[in-house]
Amino acid sequence: MRIVILPTKQEVSAFAAEAIAAVINKKSNAVLGLATGGTPLSTYEGLINKHQQGTLSFNKVRTFNLDEYVGLLPTHPQSYRQFMNKQLFNHIDINIQNTHIPECLNSDYEGCSSNYETLISEHGGIDIQLLGLGSNGHIGFNEPTSSLSSKTRIKTLTKKTIENNSRFFDATEFQPSLAITMGIGTILKSKKIILIATGENKKDAVADMIEGSVAAFSPASALQLHSDVVVVLDKLAASKLKLYDYYIQTEQSRKKLN
Ligand code: PGA
Repeated sequence: MRIVILPTKQEVSAFAAEAIAAVINKKSNAVLGLATGGTPLSTYEGLINKHQQGTLSFNKVRTFNLDEYVGLLPTHPQSYRQFMNKQLFNHIDINIQNTHIPECLNSDYEGCSSNYETLISEHGGIDIQLLGLGSNGHIGFNEPTSSLSSKTRIKTLTKKTIENNSRFFDATEFQPSLAITMGIGTILKSKKIILIATGENKKDAVADMIEGSVAAFSPASALQLHSDVVVVLDKLAASKLKLYDYYIQTEQSRKKLN
């Protein structure tokens, strides 16, 4: 696991946008795995800026999002389809037909889940997966105790996740308690993974992910099993790491080597 600790949230976002752009610039038909939530917003702004400056094109890129609420139509303002359209897809030259969200519009949840897995494989797998981190250690909507080899499926959201995400819903609005999500096994099949986490409320989940045991109770700890992961943190999110100074020193050595 490569651990990059940067002074600010803005620098974390800029690093992630750079990493994603580098993959697209190397492979114009790259397959991206994308995330929703508050953390990736500035990364998406960074990608949009690169596109507007003429240095990045998405016209051959394909995307797969991690998850979607069950019970919201894609036209619902709080659906992750609308989130992605508004925060990224509407501002870049991507073919919207090449953007995939694990929507399940009928009640054949098993069928929708296995179709999503098949679609990812048919397109050669994910070249780079962007992840946020839940304060309970989830990645996608893989809540604590999710199987570390799970595939796309329906998950019941924890009370904590529902509370954390209630900020996106009006008080009277229906907030789903079920979601369809790529599994941890699905995420681990990605060729590269970049996880970004910022703010003090992530420090416990970050410490468990990096320095704790690999355990289903800390879903992000499964990333320790992947050979090409970079975790990008601001100082607050990194503040509980026991080997904080070592990670800083390692990055300094890496710069000298390059
Ligand atoms: P956040 O959510 O970026 O809104 O903090 C992260 C997550 O739940 O994966």
